[in-house]
Amino acid sequence: MMLKKLMTGIFIILLFSIVNLACTFNHSNSSTMNAIAKLTKAPFGSIEGQEITQYTLTNVNGMQLGIINYGGALTKIITKAKDSSWGDVLTGFDSLSGFTQKANPYFGAIIGRYANRIAKGKYKVDGIEYHAALNNNGQSLHGGLKGFDKVVWTATPLAGDSSLQLNYISKDGEEGYPGNLKIQVVYTLTANNSIKIEYTATTDKTTVINLTNHSYFNLSAGKSPTIYDHILQMNANQYTPVDTVLIPTGEILDVKGTPMDFTQPKRIGDDIDKVQGGYDHNWILNKAAGLQEVTNVYDPLSGRVLTVATTEPGLQFYSGNFLDGSLTHTKNGINYIKHGALTLETQHYPDAPNQSKFQSTILKPGEVYTQTTVYTFSTK
Ligand code: GLA
Repeated sequence: MMLKKLMTGIFIILLFSIVNLACTFNHSNSSTMNAIAKLTKAPFGSIEGQEITQYTLTNVNGMQLGIINYGGALTKIITKAKDSSWGDVLTGFDSLSGFTQKANPYFGAIIGRYANRIAKGKYKVDGIEYHAALNNNGQSLHGGLKGFDKVVWTATPLAGDSSLQLNYISKDGEEGYPGNLKIQVVYTLTANNSIKIEYTATTDKTTVINLTNHSYFNLSAGKSPTIYDHILQMNANQYTPVDTVLIPTGEILDVKGTPMDFTQPKRIGDDIDKVQGGYDHNWILNKAAGLQEVTNVYDPLSGRVLTVATTEPGLQFYSGNFLDGSLTHTKNGINYIKHGALTLETQHYPDAPNQSKFQSTILKPGEVYTQTTVYTFSTK
């Protein structure tokens, strides 16, 4: 009898210990989730005496994000395909010489002070006319001759090893923009395979601002040379049509019944030939203020899905129309050909400083500019 009681006691104690152990294990598992996030640094050359570093963030699932402090550019996004193989879905270069080449079409970079175009570079702020540097068919594109994609940012890894903070001060008058503008961009790689980009900026004089990121994606990770088979869906019933130099005409048109209609998932190659050169337009997102999921793109070959959420009112879907295979120092020597990759640039509308119907891009002293965009990778 005694023995039976003793055995039952031992059994109960054992059971408790096992349950306890399981709980501890579970707990330590979730705390290691953070501990597993990793940030490593490697030299990536130098420019004008300034050291460039590549930071690699790795999350608990093994997904990797590469960032350099030149242009704040993303250098690699390594994600899993449906068959569990890893691949880099971002176009890029194997060295700094790739990023600094004249023809670099803004691969992975932070774009500012004004993303997209300003007609003839001219705009008025508080009644004063300013002239932004011209660099594209007599227009100002992506901040001018030396935009935020071509400057060296100060990089600071943040606690937890899953975020990198970048800072840059754009001086009053730089590229024809008024006000000393202090910009901060924080890149975070989350445990659920999202790349979160948080921008903030302040100015000491009224200015215009439109910040974005210019990453080019091909979700096949080098398996298909073009993005024709990618399936795109955008929550956008309207877009802003452009003239021959890609300046908005000021009209707002419905996408319904046109090649611009991606309200239902559509293969990009289906209608691309019906659009001169391919897609390079700003879609007006159906959304309220705040962070909201607005678009997704799916590559049936790899099973990869990219979902984009943003606080911005517009999205430039650019189908890599000017890629022509001529870039050098590309990753693994890949030939980035026409329509070889796409960008999904979350933004305010192009040429807003000259378009009264478009949402204002004015930033005044005392105000804080913010924009958040989240690129999430999954498979289906
Ligand atoms: C943007 C523009 C395009 C092109 C690319 C860079 O997305 O809208 O017209 O200039 O940048 O090549």
